[in-house]
Amino acid sequence: MHDEHAPSSASYGDHYAHQATRLPDNMDAFWMPFSANRQFKASPRLLVSAEGMYYRSVDDRQILDGTGGLWCCNAGHARPRIIEAVQRQIATLDYAPTFQMGHPLPFALAERLSAIAPDPLKHVFFTNSGSESVDTALKIALAYHRARGEGQRTRLIGREKAYHGVGFGGISVGGLPNNRKFFGSLLPGVDHLRHTLDIQRNAFSRGLPAHGRELAEDLERLVLLHDASTIAAVIIEPVAGSAGVVLPPEGYLQRVREICDKHGILLIFDEVITGFGRVGKAFAAQRFDVRADMITTAKGLTNGCVPMGAVFVSEQIHDAFMHGPENIIELFHGYTYSGHPLACAAALATLDTYQEEKLFEKAIELESYWAETIHGLRDCPNVVDIRNIGLIGAIELAPRPGAPGARAYDVFTRCFHEENLLIRVTGDVIALSPPLIIERDHIDRIFHTLADVLKRTA
Ligand SMILES: Cc1ncc(COP(=O)(O)O)c(C=O)c1O
Repeated sequence: MHDEHAPSSASYGDHYAHQATRLPDNMDAFWMPFSANRQFKASPRLLVSAEGMYYRSVDDRQILDGTGGLWCCNAGHARPRIIEAVQRQIATLDYAPTFQMGHPLPFALAERLSAIAPDPLKHVFFTNSGSESVDTALKIALAYHRARGEGQRTRLIGREKAYHGVGFGGISVGGLPNNRKFFGSLLPGVDHLRHTLDIQRNAFSRGLPAHGRELAEDLERLVLLHDASTIAAVIIEPVAGSAGVVLPPEGYLQRVREICDKHGILLIFDEVITGFGRVGKAFAAQRFDVRADMITTAKGLTNGCVPMGAVFVSEQIHDAFMHGPENIIELFHGYTYSGHPLACAAALATLDTYQEEKLFEKAIELESYWAETIHGLRDCPNVVDIRNIGLIGAIELAPRPGAPGARAYDVFTRCFHEENLLIRVTGDVIALSPPLIIERDHIDRIFHTLADVLKRTA
C-alpha cells in the first residue's frame, strides 16, 4: 500500500504535531457527526489545543469553554495528573483483553467508582460511550428479569424529548424525533412517558420547577395499558440535556420511583451528563435523593480524554446473574475495549483530580452565583425561559418565524467567531455546562457576552 499522505521522514511526532495545529488541506473525507457538514466545511471552527478553562482555535484565539467540551471535561482541560497517568499507562500496558482475561486497572477503578456511587449500586460494567452504556443497561434489565423467571417483562419505557445516545436501544427509548424518524421501526415494545417541559407554568424557575409532579402518573397509565408484568424498565435522564435542558419537577422522580417499586419495574437513570459532579454531587440520584437500580455514565468519567462509559448496577440485579454452574458466562455482552487500560488510567486520575480539588462541592458552592447571573438575562431580547441546576444552564429563545433554531445558531457563531466563547445550542436553546473549575469572573464573562450578543441578534 502506498499512502502519499504518510510522512516520509523519521520524524513522525513533528509531522503529526504540525498536522494537528493547522487547517487541513482537504476536509472532504471526514463525515462529521451531528453536524451540517457542508455548512461547517465552508466556515470551519477548529480547536487545536486546550488548557484549564480555555481552548485555542486554529487561528490562534483563546476561547472560553462554556460547555466542558461536550459536557465531558468536568475538571477542565490538560489536567496534569490525567496526562501523566495516560502517558505512563500507554508505555506500560497499551491493551489487554477483559474477556476471560484481565488486568488490574478495571478492578481498581470499579472499586473506586462503587465507593462514590449511591447504594445499592455496587457493581460496574465498562463500555466506551454513553450510547453503549444505555444499550448495556437496557440489555441487563431484560436479561435480569429473564434470569429471575419473569422473561415476559420485555417492554422498555422512555420519555418524550429524551436523549439516550444513538444505538438502536437508545434511539428507541429516546424521544427526539430527528434521532428516530430516519431509522426504521426501531425496537418493538417501547413506550414513552410525556416530557416535563412546561414553560407556561414554570418559566424562569430557579432550580427544580414547582409544577409537573403529576406527569409521573403517566407511568401508571402505561401500566394500565400494558400491564406491569410486561414492563422491564423505565429509563430517565434525571436532568435531560440534549433536548435543551429539561429539569424534573419537584417530587417527580420520587413519584416515578414509587410507581416502579409498586410494580416491580426497574428504574434506570441515564446520568451521562449529570454524573461526576455536574449537579453538585457525584450523581443526580444523590442530589435528588432517589434510588436507581442502574445508572449509565460516560463523559466526565475520564474527563472526556479517553472514551469510556460505565453502567452502575445494583447488588440485587448483579446477584441474580451469579447462579448456576461457575464455568458458564453469566452475561453474553461486552466490548473489546471494556475496561481499556488507557481509559482506566484516565478515569482513576480523573477521580483523584475531582477529589483533590473538591470539584463536586465546588459546583454546589457556585450554584447560586451561577443561577443569579444566568437569570440576570431574563429581560434580554427573545428570551422565553431560563433554567438552571448545579452548573447547568439553559436560555431558551423564541424561534424566528419559519426558521426554528436559526436565532440560537446565530448566537452560537457570533459567540465563537466574534467573542471567543464556546456555547452549545440545540434548537433555540442555549445550553451551558462549563468545567467545574470555573471561577466567578468566568461566569461573569459568559453571561455578559451572552447578554451583549443577544442584544445584537434579531
Ligand atoms: C443522557 C445521555 N445519554 C447518552 C448519551 C450518549 O453518549 P455518547 O455520545 O457518549 O454515546 C448522551 C450524550 O450526550 C447523553 O447526554
